[in-house]
Amino acid sequence: MMTISEALRWGAESLNESCERPQFEAELLLAHHLGKERIYLVMYADVPVEDFEVYEALIKRRAAHEPYEYIVGEASFYDIHLKVAPGVLIPRPETELLIDEVANIIEREKLTSVAEIGVGSGAISVVLARKFPNLKIVATDICDAPLRVAGENIEAFGLGGQVTLRKSNLLDEVNESVELVVSNPPYIAEDFTLEKNVAAYEPKEALFGGRAGDELLRQIILDVKARGVKWLACEMGYDQKVPIERFVNEVGVKSIAFYKDLAGFDRGFVIEFA
Ligand SMILES: C[S@@+](CC[C@H](N)C(=O)[O-])C[C@H]1O[C@@H](n2cnc3c(N)ncnc32)[C@H](O)[C@@H]1O
Repeated sequence: MMTISEALRWGAESLNESCERPQFEAELLLAHHLGKERIYLVMYADVPVEDFEVYEALIKRRAAHEPYEYIVGEASFYDIHLKVAPGVLIPRPETELLIDEVANIIEREKLTSVAEIGVGSGAISVVLARKFPNLKIVATDICDAPLRVAGENIEAFGLGGQVTLRKSNLLDEVNESVELVVSNPPYIAEDFTLEKNVAAYEPKEALFGGRAGDELLRQIILDVKARGVKWLACEMGYDQKVPIERFVNEVGVKSIAFYKDLAGFDRGFVIEFA
């Protein structure tokens, strides 16, 4: 039987081509397989690995570029761990900035009702509901897998009383009046070439926003304005500031403020409607 140190050496070698940090990921996957912390691997390096073939299967999936989060079924986001599954976008660190933008408005304006378009794993709604125990959120998605997984995350954090899920195109099935809409919608252009691990494994419905990419964003701006909702906060692509600014000027809003991500790229906006 292979020992922990031998299994790690084999795992790291197998991940050499597909991962930037093969040793680290081999350790994470072995710790996951054994149900232990990484420190255990150092302390018990000579202990044989039970069910090695199960670990082998995990390594092979990762070697084939499957995202780590799908293999372990979990992603870390903001201050929590969320369940994820194939068909559900893995929450990205830049979306934490969108949450902070929204949290500032909720706090300042003392808002109590929000809608989210495109709930995915539930990342945005779960974090906001945890931050603001009096906040009620209606969260939509057009796909079943995200609604199922978001439901599991909402339940795991005991937020069923605050977050309601609804299968809906944008806000079509939302009749409740809300004060703010938040969305990290699909905003990538149809012909954009994504990294292999993203393109092959993550859901197309979560990524592509139309031919130019910002079609769904524009629709959201129009819908939210038509409903008389005061606030809209969205994530967008790094190259969409100019077209969105131009569109918003045509539509007519009280103000729009863009925010940047930590790398200095334009990443989203907050609109206040008149
Ligand atoms: C980029 S993902 C964001 C997921 C999650 N909110 C997050 O930030 O990690 C976009 C989500 O929008 C959903 N979606 C796409 N088109 C939609 C539409 N027309 N109406 C509602 N949801 C939609 C996708 O299924 C996907 O779950």
